[in-house]
Amino acid sequence: MKLVVIGATGRTGTEIVAEASGRGHDIDGIARSEDSIEDVRVHTNDALPGLLEDADAVIDFTVPDATREYAELVAEAGVPYVVGTTGFDERGLAELREASESTAVLKASNFAKGVQALLKVVEAGVEALPEYDIELTETHHSGKRDAPSGTANTVLDVIDEAWAAQRAAGESSGDEPRDRGEELDRTHGREGEHLREENEVGVHVRRAGNVRGEHEVLLAGNDEVLTLTHRAESRRVFAAGAVDAAEWLAGKDAGWYDFEDVL
Ligand SMILES: NC(=O)c1ccc[n+]([C@@H]2O[C@H](COP(=O)([O-])OP(=O)(O)OC[C@H]3O[C@@H](n4cnc5c(N)ncnc54)[C@H](OP(=O)(O)O)[C@@H]3O)[C@@H](O)[C@H]2O)c1
Repeated sequence: MKLVVIGATGRTGTEIVAEASGRGHDIDGIARSEDSIEDVRVHTNDALPGLLEDADAVIDFTVPDATREYAELVAEAGVPYVVGTTGFDERGLAELREASESTAVLKASNFAKGVQALLKVVEAGVEALPEYDIELTETHHSGKRDAPSGTANTVLDVIDEAWAAQRAAGESSGDEPRDRGEELDRTHGREGEHLREENEVGVHVRRAGNVRGEHEVLLAGNDEVLTLTHRAESRRVFAAGAVDAAEWLAGKDAGWYDFEDVL
């Protein structure tokens, strides 16, 4: 497969190039300055339109502002596009959705298979323990820009959806559901005098050293605590998932896909 890796010289991009190269793919990298890594050609942005002419897929792990610009070019060329970049605002996400009208776009906040399993386990935990308080803690290396992590936001979305389903089920059955309010309150850290609200999920972010990525969901109530933790031991796990996604996405019709589709 002919693959273009954008952000090829970054922490994750380097691992993606190594993984794809190990699988025998023909790789061109894009970075802000020309470089070469382990016999892979790394070009600057000017080369991208030419490379897209015969690429089977593109993988992008950069920063949201750069991805927004790349998305336009990749969509115009109609090349399947795997996006690992995190930290988009509403507008950035809407632009990616727009790109998916012209090409296949697969965006995931985490390409580790274990995180996909974590999301399912969190959903099951929230369903089984509807009365319990929930807190989320994530830890990443000191070079990470966005906070909370894209994965933490995805976990919060899962909790939000599970609570919404419980409210709907409570309303339809006539039971009194726990009063979580209309939507989940993402409480980023705490300071000063403040009692925990029913609809609150505390979100705690740590940035230190070279931690690859750790997410812990804590459910507590009824004199017990359940913790669900995922820890990435190496960036290779993200690289393997991103290359799996590119292999799966190549040749797919325009549209919006997620990593669960690949698994
Ligand atoms: N979805 C997942 O599973 C997953 C896993 C890990 C990381 N991520 C996300 O992937 C992204 C990259 O993470 P990382 O740790 O690899 O970061 P990194 O080491 O800082 O690498 C970022 C890459 O983006 C490039 N870049 C930065 N600003 C740019 C710009 N304005 N225009 C073009 N290229 C630009 C950098 O190019 P230069 O080398 O030229 O500076 C570098 O290659 C982050 O959003 C991170 O949260 C996602």
